Amino acid sequence: EVAAREKVIEAHELTAKLYHYLLMNTTHGQPALEYLRSRGVTDKQIDHFMIGYAPPEWDTLVRFLLKREFDADLMEKGGLLVAKQDGSGYIDRFRDRIMFPIWNRDGKTIALAGRMLGEGQPKYLNSPETMLFNKSRNFYNFHHSRPAMRKSRRIVLFEGYMDVIKAWSAGVNNGVATMGTALTDEHAALLSRNVDEAILCYDGDSAGQAAVLKSIPILEKVGLRVQVAMLPKGMDPDEYIEAHGANAFMRETIEHPVSVTKFKLIYAKKSHILLEEEGQKNYLLEAVRIIAELDSPTEREFYLKDLSREFEFSLDSLKQDCFQQRQKLQ
Ligand code: CTP
Ligand code: MN
Ligand code: MN
Ligand code: MN
Ligand code: MN
Repeated sequence: EVAAREKVIEAHELTAKLYHYLLMNTTHGQPALEYLRSRGVTDKQIDHFMIGYAPPEWDTLVRFLLKREFDADLMEKGGLLVAKQDGSGYIDRFRDRIMFPIWNRDGKTIALAGRMLGEGQPKYLNSPETMLFNKSRNFYNFHHSRPAMRKSRRIVLFEGYMDVIKAWSAGVNNGVATMGTALTDEHAALLSRNVDEAILCYDGDSAGQAAVLKSIPILEKVGLRVQVAMLPKGMDPDEYIEAHGANAFMRETIEHPVSVTKFKLIYAKKSHILLEEEGQKNYLLEAVRIIAELDSPTEREFYLKDLSREFEFSLDSLKQDCFQQRQKLQ
């Protein structure tokens, strides 16, 4: 069992190196390299994240691994190979994809993710769950970000591989991402053992913002202080950095996260038509409900004052509503 795990790790390490070599040093890898460059990915990023390329053939990795006397059945269990339906052998899981190695907490390669060059489905193909890889427990880039995480006692959570990579060059050395799954309690527990604070920096589309809303209570439950770094509508961190540069990204988003309450207020506001009386009233009531969840009277007053100023409502009536909402919460 231990020996099998060691073998699967060894195979992953070699595979990542093979794919990296194919990307950087062969004509096969040229289109993939051009694709990465067209997206602004630098050689430094390719090296640091060991980005690679899996060629289109069905058996590049099969032959590579068998030549090194790895057991094909074990490689299938480890997620690198896929058994043919007719039982006549194995094929490579990843073909014609840009490859991102995934490391465990000790920096060992335990899985891979592959992106298509261009559009298509599925855009990303990740290793399946194996004896080594559990998506609900692992973060992309956790190992590399550990020193910065420990020092700052803070983590920045992204949605995607590219976001982590671009943000790393912009100066976010404590950035990680979940991999094709929502944030779980296990993820949060791991974070709470390493940091005190989490900044959520998800995509600026509606899926990303909805995911922020879902992640907040999961992180708060384990005692983390949570803040939200917001992006303009429809942009993800990678796109923002490409469009506006690393400095703007740091200055405008990462260094100025908003509080959870502020985020919830902004989110709620978007779902109401404020130009209509009914919409405005419903937003105000929802906003008061959000503010009522705060335990600190000072904080409640802070947001209520904002609200009363913005809508020219008396602070008194908002406070009364807030008081009533709090009674319902007890
Ligand atoms: N994801 C996945 N499988 C997919 C699509 C997405 O596992 N078919 C995961 C990947 O980890 C991806 C993340 O969800 O990085 C966020 O998805 P999305 O925002 O759609 O992709 P981007 O990270 O923005 O990818 P890219 O910039 O390469 O287009
Ligand atoms: Mn290299
Ligand atoms: Mn997204
Ligand atoms: Mn995205
Ligand atoms: Mn993206």
